Amino acid sequence: MTDNLYPDLLTAKKIWEEGFNRRCLNTVFKAREEYVFHTIGIAEMARKIALRTGYLNPEKAYVLGLLHDYGKKYDERAEGIFHVRAGYEEMMNMGYSDVARICLTHSFPSPDFDDKDYTSYKPEWLTWAHDCLKDVVYDDYDRLIQFCDIHFEALNIVSIDERIKGICRRYGLKIEQLKNLRDNAFRLKAYFDKKCGGDVYELLNISVVK
Ligand SMILES: [Fe+2]
Repeated sequence: MTDNLYPDLLTAKKIWEEGFNRRCLNTVFKAREEYVFHTIGIAEMARKIALRTGYLNPEKAYVLGLLHDYGKKYDERAEGIFHVRAGYEEMMNMGYSDVARICLTHSFPSPDFDDKDYTSYKPEWLTWAHDCLKDVVYDDYDRLIQFCDIHFEALNIVSIDERIKGICRRYGLKIEQLKNLRDNAFRLKAYFDKKCGGDVYELLNISVVK
């Protein structure tokens, strides 16, 4: 991954639309609605944080957020296609290696992740991801999209702990089982608090439910 490429905003929106139309073939209305909320919401959140940092490119952040889940044009379960790999490979084929990279890294806040934290992924998918990630050194765009991604729960933007509770409810898990996910999320929050010169939740209007 040596290139440094991502599409301009107009091209990115066309690619997003193509992915969305493909997704509409295999999903119900609710899933489409959530996909729109999630991808556009992350794009906007990433742009806002990038602007505040003063050094990240807001348009690049928006484009990466918009296309990070491009691989979800396929139904991961029904079609047996790993969205991370599909997004990565299709973006590489288009020549957008910066986006390909985000399609890969957004799901793995820790590059040497523990397979046990990814029970919904097939072992061969994880083997592929380990292999791809072994030479990747995360940059602030990787961290930015990982950070934004953790705050989206259906049609809401929520705090880290609310999101963790949501995952626990959905999959019948205990909070302790998501310790790595939670620790990584708080590590990223502390990182962006620092880069933004204050509590990033104030910028994003996220309230923490006590
Ligand atoms: Fe996502």
